[in-house]
Amino acid sequence: MLSAKLHAAINEQINAELWSAYLYLSMSMDAEAKGYKGVANWFFVQWQEEQDHARILMNYLNSRDCKVELKPIAEVRTEWNSVLEMYQETLKHEKVVTGLINNLAAIAAEDRDFASSNMLVWFIDEQIEEEESARDMIFATESVEGDKYGMYQLDKELAARTYTQASPLAASAE
Ligand code: FEO
Repeated sequence: MLSAKLHAAINEQINAELWSAYLYLSMSMDAEAKGYKGVANWFFVQWQEEQDHARILMNYLNSRDCKVELKPIAEVRTEWNSVLEMYQETLKHEKVVTGLINNLAAIAAEDRDFASSNMLVWFIDEQIEEEESARDMIFATESVEGDKYGMYQLDKELAARTYTQASPLAASAE
């Protein structure tokens, strides 16, 4: 069993991951509506990845004999002024998530809950990648600003992004 504080914080993080999934699904739908099928695909993959993050935490709570309590998922924005704005918001949001993960790691350390600390290492590393990929997308989108053909090419590239199941889930399926 986890401490009540860590149990509650991980339950909140499950909600935060599902909210992230919902945010990126909303960006995907907005991009699709505006004709950016590749951008829509990029955010659709992001939606799948965020659901994996929630799933990893749910599996973890279950494995530690702690009940998962699902809370309502708050409303998300549905319209962005540009693709660049979507990626800027993505980076801003991922920085918030990094803070939440660091907070979980701090509680686990306070509790001397080494199993939880170990589980959270994957999320700490993942947040480095999440922030880096958002920064890369801001750079790519800024590079083609005002260039419609460039944006068309970038959109085509983003159509190639594919979903890969998060490694902790792939490992548990073996
Ligand atoms: Fe679940 Fe984008 O971090």
